[in-house]
Amino acid sequence: MLRLSDGVRAKLEELAQGVEEGLLPAWIFNDPDLFELEKERIFSRSWVYLAHESEIPKPGDYVLRYILNNPYIVVRGEDGQVRAFLDMCRHRGMRVCRAEAGNASHFRCPFHGWTYRNDGALVGVPAEREAFAGDLRKEEWGLVPLPRLEAFDGLLFGNLDPGAPSLEEWLGEIRWYLELITKRSPAGLEVLGPPQRWVVPTDWKLALETFISDSYHTLMTHRSLIELGIAPKDAKYAMYGEQIHVPGKGHGAMVVGAPPGAQLPPFWGYPEEMMERARASYPTKEQWEVAKETRILLITLFPNFSIHNPIRRPDHKYPRPVPMLTFRVWHPLGPGRIEIFSWGLVEKDAPEWFKEKARHSYLRFFGSSGTFEQDDTEIWSHVAQNAASTQGGRVRLYYRMGLHLAPDPNWPGPGVAYGLNFTDANLRNFHRRYLEMLLA
Ligand code: FES
Ligand SMILES: [Fe+2]
Repeated sequence: MLRLSDGVRAKLEELAQGVEEGLLPAWIFNDPDLFELEKERIFSRSWVYLAHESEIPKPGDYVLRYILNNPYIVVRGEDGQVRAFLDMCRHRGMRVCRAEAGNASHFRCPFHGWTYRNDGALVGVPAEREAFAGDLRKEEWGLVPLPRLEAFDGLLFGNLDPGAPSLEEWLGEIRWYLELITKRSPAGLEVLGPPQRWVVPTDWKLALETFISDSYHTLMTHRSLIELGIAPKDAKYAMYGEQIHVPGKGHGAMVVGAPPGAQLPPFWGYPEEMMERARASYPTKEQWEVAKETRILLITLFPNFSIHNPIRRPDHKYPRPVPMLTFRVWHPLGPGRIEIFSWGLVEKDAPEWFKEKARHSYLRFFGSSGTFEQDDTEIWSHVAQNAASTQGGRVRLYYRMGLHLAPDPNWPGPGVAYGLNFTDANLRNFHRRYLEMLLA
């Protein structure tokens, strides 16, 4: 375990006080010491999103995914079972998987040719008899499995900690909100191709903050969308909703409806037949009641996985609104540096025209060339720059929005809900959990 220097200890104390007061020191968004601690105490013990099962539907399909700097081959074996292995040959440590995705019955190491089956077993060793004279017990030298791999409704998560709580326990009450997405259709979801990936000079927490709580930024950051008529006319449209968090877990959600008087179709604007399927497929009546009033849904799982599902307003090209759904991982590369993995998804049983338009919606609004996304990443990079500056790092930032609010007693879903989205409640909850893990 990392030994904490006096300097790091002092930083943690400053952070603890900041969390307590809702006044966080800016250095948390770009600090090498903190990043080391996050690697060890957050990312080495948390459930990290790896892949959606629709990315690897057939035996032999694989994708390469990462937890910290560890590459994992997530692969469906010939028996249909999904497993994950460290992409590292047991002989001298070379990578055995040379592509980010593909289909393979075996992985052959390009260094000396050791060959592994896609269930991880070592099955081929060149010149085995001559070189190892019967000493090498192949059954003991398979690829190293990821310590934990579990799935929730087709979403595959990995954990480096063999003693971690189950994924189900980790998720807790956020499941109810995840199901609004995963159980919208009995057929489940499918990805619209491989993830877009790009590097942004910022901190993973900044990206996550925007998606777990910060509907307040839409007023200004995404102002051009209002001016272009893509977002509703009422600039405060993103405040009309509930902000919900799961105490003790760090997860959060935002459920946004329509601004008063705005003519927005219910249930994200899905076609009638998809609405009916959802109504029948949702596990509870309450979930349906909430979903049918929803136009924007964001869910963020601690530590670095977000889902965004907004309605897309009609424009000159598509007079009919088609929602988009994106999954994203804020993959930490180093202090002040992340790689964004961003997938577009759609219901598997959606009509073809809808899938095509959902893909368009996604590409136009989010992803590496999406209008929303560029607004955000540009800003995140400057915050991280300031956070690393000698003077900027010392500034304390204001996380006290919405402290005057009381929880909404009428909200039908689990968790602590507030009937106004302009609040930092989810952030305060996230940072409490974050600090708790750093200290434990
Ligand atoms: S390093 Fe893989 S076979 Fe030698
Ligand atoms: Fe944004």
